[in-house]
Amino acid sequence: MFKKKTKSYLITGGTGFIGRNITESLIRQGFRVTIFDNNFRGSIKKLRSKKKINFIKGDVRNRKKFFKCLNNIDAVIHLAYVNGTKYFYSKPNLVLDVAVKGLLNVLDGCVKYKIKELYLASSSEVYQTPLKIPTTENEMLKVPDVYNPRYSYGVGKILTEVMGINLGRKLFKKLIIFRPHNVYGLNMGTEHVIPEFLARFKNLKGKKFKIQGTGNEIRSFIFIDDFVKAFELIIKKGKHLNIYNIGTTEKITMKKLALTISKILNKKIILKKSPLKKGGTTIRVPDIKKIKKLGFKPRYSLKAGIRKILEN
Ligand SMILES: NC(=O)c1ccc[n+]([C@@H]2O[C@H](COP(=O)([O-])OP(=O)(O)OC[C@H]3O[C@@H](n4cnc5c(N)ncnc54)[C@H](O)[C@@H]3O)[C@@H](O)[C@H]2O)c1
Repeated sequence: MFKKKTKSYLITGGTGFIGRNITESLIRQGFRVTIFDNNFRGSIKKLRSKKKINFIKGDVRNRKKFFKCLNNIDAVIHLAYVNGTKYFYSKPNLVLDVAVKGLLNVLDGCVKYKIKELYLASSSEVYQTPLKIPTTENEMLKVPDVYNPRYSYGVGKILTEVMGINLGRKLFKKLIIFRPHNVYGLNMGTEHVIPEFLARFKNLKGKKFKIQGTGNEIRSFIFIDDFVKAFELIIKKGKHLNIYNIGTTEKITMKKLALTISKILNKKIILKKSPLKKGGTTIRVPDIKKIKKLGFKPRYSLKAGIRKILEN
């Protein structure tokens, strides 16, 4: 009798915030994990299971080095990307370079090494300002202004989806796209709104608390543990060539978010508006019926998620 081979995943961008959490979950389930990341923003030190994985430090644009890692891989999760709003404005060429060359290497590499299972990270940014709220996966994708460097991020994600779907039709057995909507949690750095607010509250002197925009901008957030549960459902039950929003429908204005945190921390604040960055959007909330059909139920309310971060 042959012993059944343990499934082996390769995660590009696996030392990043989402990648580390997916890795921990795959390791807990007994799978083998290889991470390919240049640590541009990720950190292998933050990964609890670092001794149980195979880590290759490399740039996903380096075709030769990347292809060398694809032997004996059963499934690829492609997360490597230049994430973080400040980079969309300051380094649009880098954002696009990693998006395009990374994508081509991942797709060509999977085809060459006959890897038939691929999960591609897209983003809620592909909707820009959606026409309908909550927004289903069928919403029109947009690039409102080619002159605005911000859209380098969204364009790369739209390309990821279009190329993925077209190649996926013939060359893959299971190619799935997921669109995360504002994932937050522990150890994610301070470049996302919730940890950035928490860090500023910690060092707050006086009462003035600056927020970007009028404060009436609406978002919904998903706690990382819930995100990972949703992603696991996609791996187990997701359908070939399908796209899934991953998020929650608990909407909140940025004003309310700041006030909620101030209440939890018992700090009084006076909100100060500031101009919204060009291309920033006023509202985004996903429709999550499709992922719910796979069995997804978010466990963490926003308050519970924030409390969990503060407890640690
Ligand atoms: N966090 C969110 O709320 C969110 C929302 C929408 C989409 N996404 C997408 O999910 C994925 C993971 O996001 P995250 O929050 O973990 O971001 P992250 O920045 O923490 O992770 C991205 C990882 O990619 C790596 N990387 C960057 N350039 C690379 C290169 N050239 N070669 C190899 N690795 C490279 C970084 O070092 C980092 O570890 C990304 O594709 C992101 O666009 C995340």
